[in-house]
Amino acid sequence: MLASRHVDQTTQAPATHFPADQCCLNIEQFNLAYAGKLALQALTLQVPRHRVTAFIGPSGCGKSTLLRAINRLHDLNGSVTHSGSISLEGHNIHDPGINVTELRRRVGMVFQTPNPFPMSIYDNVAFGLRLQKRLAKRQRDDIIEWALTSAALWDEVKDDLHRSAWRLSGGQQQRLVIARTLAVQPDVLLLDEPASALDPISTLKIEELIRNLKSQLTLVLVTHNMQQAARVSDYTAFLQEGELVEYGPTDHVFTNPRLQRTENYITGRMA
Ligand SMILES: Nc1ncnc2c1ncn2[C@@H]1O[C@H](COP(=O)(O)OP(=O)(O)O)[C@@H](O)[C@H]1O
Ligand SMILES: [Mg+2]
Repeated sequence: MLASRHVDQTTQAPATHFPADQCCLNIEQFNLAYAGKLALQALTLQVPRHRVTAFIGPSGCGKSTLLRAINRLHDLNGSVTHSGSISLEGHNIHDPGINVTELRRRVGMVFQTPNPFPMSIYDNVAFGLRLQKRLAKRQRDDIIEWALTSAALWDEVKDDLHRSAWRLSGGQQQRLVIARTLAVQPDVLLLDEPASALDPISTLKIEELIRNLKSQLTLVLVTHNMQQAARVSDYTAFLQEGELVEYGPTDHVFTNPRLQRTENYITGRMA
């Protein structure tokens, strides 16, 4: 058993704790406000390494805000204030010594709408690599093949890597974006509703690659789709109005939720 479950005495909310050597992200008493209005409240949650953790909850509950906070994408929004801490592998991401560019290399992010750059498939995947370091073409090619294979796209594009990325289907574009993110070898991949703009077959491909990727890195998946969370995640966190309501192993949260609020949400009694 990876984790022990118990009731946190201070909040009466269920908590899932992982020993330091299994904990990738440690979020503690994290608050975030937009222009003084709280969007995340006293959030305490640990994300285990090499697992898929799903964040679920109604629209506006703070899922995207939390993913952006983990990647420090709020830095340029002057109206955002925050307190509490988020640590990646034991290091507070807000420490003055943290290199934000390096943080964003280590923590990749994929959004709902595929956003390939207006260039070839090859150049999309090479993009971050070229910024990161000078590599011999042979080394770069190897990484590109590895990233496209990990993103379950290699077989479909290998014969024409210099085709425009914009000529790919939506599902292929999203897998390309995942490959581009993987190419710089992140430790964590944050996926914000990555399949919600895709057809069912493309969605299943994304789900399968997510399951396969966890041997290589830690994944956090925001999804509206309860079945998707149940199919791909190991742990599920249910958020409501910026607060963590329930967190535990996915099978437990879905089959035997502790709280009525969670059950209402996952059974569709609440939007
Ligand atoms: N850039 C922003 N400026 C002001 N308020 C925002 C901004 N982004 C999100 N919010 C607010 O923060 C809350 C959480 O939003 P969000 O994180 O997008 O939720 P979710 O991803 O769960 O749908 C909502 O009330 C939303 O209106
Ligand atoms: Mg969102």
